[in-house]
Amino acid sequence: MAKKSKQSKILPIYILNGPNLNLLGHREPEVYGTTTLAQIEQMCAAQARSHGLSIVFHQSNLEGEIVDQLQEARTSAGAVIINPAGYGHTSIAILDTIQTLKVPVIEVHLSNIHRREPYRHLSYVSKGATGIVMGLGAQGYLRAIDAIADILKRTK
Ligand code: DQA
Repeated sequence: MAKKSKQSKILPIYILNGPNLNLLGHREPEVYGTTTLAQIEQMCAAQARSHGLSIVFHQSNLEGEIVDQLQEARTSAGAVIINPAGYGHTSIAILDTIQTLKVPVIEVHLSNIHRREPYRHLSYVSKGATGIVMGLGAQGYLRAIDAIADILKRTK
């Protein structure tokens, strides 16, 4: 019987995006940049491919839908990258679900939330994250993929 290649056993990285990130490229470009979410998805797919990994990419404006996607990630993802957007500052439900995950979770913010309004300084998601990348714009997603590739290599 043909041996299954190692690569085929690696589960995809779930990349989850919260509310209003569907407006990237048009929404406050001076804060969030001009790259659209569709472009970020393409960049992430290419970056993951360069590490022999794949992605599942979602965006939702609904908190419960993000909880559902995280629950799906429990059995279907090798790692999670999440930009919870505004829900990071409010959602204990999203944190609760992240805390049920056994895979690495990287929190991403395009902007540096600590340089912004005080109500953005707290992220509940950070409490459950393996690591955090912020302030690097769209590139932050790629650095998060690099970090995950490194973690997966070291923990294989
Ligand atoms: C954000 C920062 C949040 O404060 C904000 O609500 C967002 C985007 C970021 O990527 O910089 O929607 O998560």
